Amino acid sequence: MSEKRSSFTGKIGFVLAAAGSAVGLGNIWRFPYLAAKYGGGIFLLVYIILAVTFGFALMAAEIALGRKTGQSAIGAFKSLDKRYSFVGVLASVIPAIILPYYSVIGGWVTKYLAVFVSGGASATAADDYFTGFISKTGEPVVWFLIFIALTAIIVLLGVEKGVEKVSKVMMPVLIALTIFIAVYSMFMPGAMEGVKYYLTPDFSKFSIKTVLAAMGQLFYSMSLAMGIMITYGSYMKKDVNLEKSVRQIEIFDTGIAFLAGLMIIPAVFAFSGGDESALGKGPSLMFITLPKVFDSMKGGTVIGAIFFLLVLFAALTSSISLMETVVSIVRDKFGWNRKAVCIGVLIFCIVLGLPSCFGFSIWGEIAVNGLSILDMFDFVSNSVLMPIVAFLTCIFVGYVLKPKALIEEVELSGPFKAKKLFTVVIKYIAPVCILLILISSVLDTLGIMKI
Ligand code: PHE
Repeated sequence: MSEKRSSFTGKIGFVLAAAGSAVGLGNIWRFPYLAAKYGGGIFLLVYIILAVTFGFALMAAEIALGRKTGQSAIGAFKSLDKRYSFVGVLASVIPAIILPYYSVIGGWVTKYLAVFVSGGASATAADDYFTGFISKTGEPVVWFLIFIALTAIIVLLGVEKGVEKVSKVMMPVLIALTIFIAVYSMFMPGAMEGVKYYLTPDFSKFSIKTVLAAMGQLFYSMSLAMGIMITYGSYMKKDVNLEKSVRQIEIFDTGIAFLAGLMIIPAVFAFSGGDESALGKGPSLMFITLPKVFDSMKGGTVIGAIFFLLVLFAALTSSISLMETVVSIVRDKFGWNRKAVCIGVLIFCIVLGLPSCFGFSIWGEIAVNGLSILDMFDFVSNSVLMPIVAFLTCIFVGYVLKPKALIEEVELSGPFKAKKLFTVVIKYIAPVCILLILISSVLDTLGIMKI
């Protein structure tokens, strides 16, 4: 490649950009829903234990792989062992699948923000508002295009001037807004029931399902197993402390997920009179239930607008990481310039995103097992490909490359305090757990075993 490889300017830039990738829609709509479903406090406890062990080791491995090789996924695996290039190829397919449909949802968020800001908030509280919107043919496409264009512009500006700069602004704002809404929501009348439910561990609700659900969520939430952290690691300078950075990204990611629970669970409890089932899954929570909650609260239009702004920031920094990963893989492979590759990736995403939009309108009848086209992309990438890539990465690092090679990479920038934990998790614990996630999530989605 003719141009020098870009890099983040320093530690803060790296941590904020990686945290920006990790903190996304998953933290805000999926985590609170899972926490409510799997017993509140006990889920929280399990999640935190897994984050500091399992999540830590996997993230450190990916970042170290990237920094060691200075390459994105395909090049990284290839340069270490040619026989394992296919793992890099598989990892690279995942962001290319996720980016288009993630941007379709990003478009919905952008639309809701626009409606709240322009004073139309109360309309969104109507029962059929959301389904009415996504089943239109043209409008969701327009919002999808706006969101993906925003993402592309930032990626086009480059690692330092685009990704890093934007993360440095959006991430602190995101934290401040999240804290603000969480506090506001906790003080609503009737909210304390929800806070108690969320924070008190009820050990009778603990089961293997709690662990599997927490682990699956952790994976997705930390943007693991899809080449993102390898790419971001390849932009990390050798003197930035790798272990500390991983810890900070984790705190960020888990902290925002925790706050999202505080923001959403008490408010929904207050609204529904303590009915946990009101915390329905994913889209319905964010686009149907919450607008009703906002409509019922004092100052709800302003709070709602702030909420959708913070969700937009979370979604944007994640989609940026997805696009940057795809762009960097193509550039590493062919050496083309950033602008040409960005435009190519943008066109690819538009083409692949349209079916997800149309899956709710003109192609609404294409649904397998109740899954829309968007759900199917989500299933293939998150429930099938990601666990496979994570499993192969552990096998590669644990038994082919050997953990020592990555431990040495981490030690270039300071002592690696958790290296024993790292080795044990990568070699033994993670591969077994990941296989369990794979089996359970496939069975679950196919409706064979409802977890
Ligand atoms: N980690 C992001 C979240 O929690 C999701 C994401 C997945 C981002 C894949 C990028 C890539 O929502």
